Amino acid sequence: MVQKLLILGIESSCDETGVALVECEVGSDPEQVPELLAHALYSQIVMHQAFGGVVPELASRDHIRRVIPLTQEVLAAADCRLSDIDVVAYTRGPGLAGALLVGAGVACALGAALGKPVLGVHHLEGHLLSPFLSADPPRFPFVALLVSGGHTQLMRVDGVGRYVLLGESIDDAAGEAFDKSAKLMGLAYPGGPLLARMAEEGNPKAYALPRPLLHSGNLDFSFAGLKTAVLVQSQKMVAAAGAPSFEALPRVQQCDLAASTQAAIVDVLVRKSMTALKETGLTRLVVAGGVGANRHLRSQLNEACTKRDIRVHYPELHLCTDNGAMIALAAAMRLQSGSQQASAHYAFDVKPRWPLDTR
Ligand code: KG4
Ligand code: ZN
Repeated sequence: MVQKLLILGIESSCDETGVALVECEVGSDPEQVPELLAHALYSQIVMHQAFGGVVPELASRDHIRRVIPLTQEVLAAADCRLSDIDVVAYTRGPGLAGALLVGAGVACALGAALGKPVLGVHHLEGHLLSPFLSADPPRFPFVALLVSGGHTQLMRVDGVGRYVLLGESIDDAAGEAFDKSAKLMGLAYPGGPLLARMAEEGNPKAYALPRPLLHSGNLDFSFAGLKTAVLVQSQKMVAAAGAPSFEALPRVQQCDLAASTQAAIVDVLVRKSMTALKETGLTRLVVAGGVGANRHLRSQLNEACTKRDIRVHYPELHLCTDNGAMIALAAAMRLQSGSQQASAHYAFDVKPRWPLDTR
């Protein structure tokens, strides 16, 4: 029997509160892509900027303030009532424990009050499936390059819930490499997008920075050494110019270091992705996570994939970073594929650390 389901998705794993409504059909074509009806987002970035990074306790408290108004906002935008919701999905992990507890608590309370089942979603699965909401959705199987603030992973994806880890960062994630390098350059948190903007004005070959683990013979990444190399290079530049700080250097020099840093990160991500495609023999690449918004990464991947006749898929730009749409979508795709059922047990836990390939 074909059943239409309205799914409310709540994301609260870090510093963004995201809520969305997705509609899907269960019992029909399992490959039918669910429809995003509405989504709303509140970013706490400005609040955390004063501290140079996310303050977990402030994040939790702010999720409490935002989650109900955002839910009301998406219901109004989709012209739906609370009682129309069939399933309440929430991010169960990984992420900040307190922040996750807010979303899980609200989702399970809502489910209990409405008498509707709930479903806990893996945050990275949300990112990984988010390109299905784009104008050019992928098909299984594919290689996924997950590049967020907390994770850098290459996965083989054969279907919903069928994930094999091929390689991952052994220290900093790609997003962290962007953010920490940006901090060294005096840019505000999270500096990734700001560094990327400066990089567009700079010369990516100006400074030779290391490409860690490029020839390691496996698909793991390491970005901690790059951050140190950026620090050493910036100190050399400041000393050579007799400047009081990196920010006091001529803009062209700052942009050149930004471009060289971005080029080093992107180079490693592109080359390892191509190796993963070659080793698996797959011909589709899906890029997901906040760093997937990076324009240089997209242009380099497009070029490398075109050469090898590989199809590459990205999430819509506004769905690259954390959002509720990907959580509602992942729940919808799990229900459609039959790989997970929603539950009417409202006791909940969260999983701050939770590998995606061991569900
Ligand atoms: O996926 P996401 O929203 O959060 C996590 O789940 O971690 O990713 C956030 C990360 C941050 O490190 C941010 O600096 C980075 O994605 N990011 C970018 C760009 N946009 C976001 N990094 C480089 N270039 C961008 N355009
Ligand atoms: Zn994320």
